[in-house]
Amino acid sequence: MPIETMSTEIARSRYNRIAPVYDLMEGIIEIAGYSKWRELLWSRVEGTCILEIGIGTGKNFPYYPAHAEVTAIDFSEKMLERAKDRAERQKIKVQLQWMDVQHLEFKNDTFDTVVASFVFCSVPDPIRGLKEVERVCKPKGKVVLLEHVLSANRILAWLMNVANPMVVRIMGANINRRTVENVATSGLMIEQVTDLGAGIFKLLEARKKLLSP
Ligand SMILES: C[S@@+](CC[C@H](N)C(=O)[O-])C[C@H]1O[C@@H](n2cnc3c(N)ncnc32)[C@H](O)[C@@H]1O
Repeated sequence: MPIETMSTEIARSRYNRIAPVYDLMEGIIEIAGYSKWRELLWSRVEGTCILEIGIGTGKNFPYYPAHAEVTAIDFSEKMLERAKDRAERQKIKVQLQWMDVQHLEFKNDTFDTVVASFVFCSVPDPIRGLKEVERVCKPKGKVVLLEHVLSANRILAWLMNVANPMVVRIMGANINRRTVENVATSGLMIEQVTDLGAGIFKLLEARKKLLSP
C-alpha cells in the first residue's frame, strides 16, 4: 500500500499505537449507545456485495447481514490484525485487506453498499476518501456512514475546535469534521441525515448518482 503523505503516515501510526487498547477505550460508549447505532447502520445496507471502510478491530461483525459478501479495509495493520483474530474467533466470513481509503484498489462501480463507522473523522483527506468511495460504489448504490461531526451550536463548536488538536493526538480522530458537507462535495447524493444525539452523532445515507460527476 503506498503511503503518500506525511499526514497519512502520522494518522496510520496513531491507530497502530492505540490498536491494543482501542476496545478498552471505546468500551463504555459502546455500551452507552454505539452498539444500537451500529445495528441501525447495518439495517440500512443494501445488496450483497459490501465494502466496509476502516474496519478497526471488527466491532461491526455481529451486524453483518447473513448472506452478504463483505470486503473490509483498514490502513492500520495493527487494527487489521485484531480484526483478523476477532473474525477467526467469531467465525465471520470477511475479506480483510490493508488499504488506504484515499487510494482504493478496487475497480469502478464494484460494490452495492459502502459502509463505515467513525472513520471519516480520521481520514487525512476526507473528500478524497469519499470520492474514492463514490468511484467504487455501483451507480445507484448506497453509502451509509455513522459519524460524529462538528456541532451546529456555536459555543459547542468553539469548544470542539479548541479541543480538537489534543483529541487527534490521543485518539487519532478529529472532532470538528463537517462530514455531511464533505459527502455532498464528493459527488454523492445525500438521501437522509438522521441525528442520533446532541446534534453531533449522525447516520448519513447517500447514493451514487446514475452518472458520476
Ligand atoms: C475510530 S476507528 C473506527 C473503527 C471501526 N470502524 C469502529 O466502528 O469501531 C477509525 C478506523 O479507521 C481507520 N482509518 C482511518 N483512516 C483511514 C484510511 N485513510 N484508510 C483506511 N482506514 C482508515 C483507522 O485505522 C481505524 O481503524
